[in-house]
Amino acid sequence: MLNSKPMGKHIIQVCKSTTYHVNKSKEIVKIFEQRLGIKIGKTTKDGIFTLILTNCIEACNISPSAKIDEEVFGNLSREKIGNLIKIQGKRIMLKTVNLISCNIGKIVPDLV
Ligand code: FES
Repeated sequence: MLNSKPMGKHIIQVCKSTTYHVNKSKEIVKIFEQRLGIKIGKTTKDGIFTLILTNCIEACNISPSAKIDEEVFGNLSREKIGNLIKIQGKRIMLKTVNLISCNIGKIVPDLV
């Protein structure tokens, strides 16, 4: 991904295509914004996360979904996003280390 602005260590991409409008993806963006304390298109102050809208992430069948770095997470909800993004004090961290991911297509269909 080529950008003129500095990007965060982890890039969170939410699809802005059809599923954005029909499958609660707008709500998912708001949850990410609340959780990260930033608006879409911005990077957290600590430079850890950038939240952006993008075109299809090839996960329409598990929408609402988001791609974090190279992994796709589907059927997202407030709870699942909470399981992904951990807030510890003022630090916001990614919790994918404890998740079982499917190596084929790097799709993580469900979070535990
Ligand atoms: S159109 Fe959004 S994931 Fe495919």
